[in-house]
Amino acid sequence: MCHYCGCREIPLIKEFIAEHERVTDAAGDALRALERGDAGRARELVDRMAVELAAHWRGEEDGLFRVMSADPEYADYIAALEGEHRELAALLPSLDLTAPADVRTFTDAVRELHQHIAKEEDGLFPASLTALSGEDWNTSMAAWRAARA
Ligand SMILES: [Fe+2]
Repeated sequence: MCHYCGCREIPLIKEFIAEHERVTDAAGDALRALERGDAGRARELVDRMAVELAAHWRGEEDGLFRVMSADPEYADYIAALEGEHRELAALLPSLDLTAPADVRTFTDAVRELHQHIAKEEDGLFPASLTALSGEDWNTSMAAWRAARA
């Protein structure tokens, strides 16, 4: 994770990173529940991930992602990130966590989620520091507030 550019001190970026941590904490707890054979608890945690992620993705996509997509330099990168959001949104509710194949699928999805988050925290968020105007930050912050409301 990038700790050097200062983006972690931007309030909105801090919120996004805290949301990532809540989701990856729930994912880790779900994996541990599956290891001890507690599919019911894992399901609750995966459902919590889905709820957290739905609000998180709205906050990113309606604000920061939208204003950065206006720059062709970032548009494809952001489209790929949004594609990964849609894939995980479709996957989580469909998983049968009592089935070993789906447990493997979930385990892979958690690894991919960590990689996805790294692309945001090490790529997009540092880039936002130089890419966004003051007005862009206001737009991004307003979208995040609306998503949490
Ligand atoms: Fe994110």
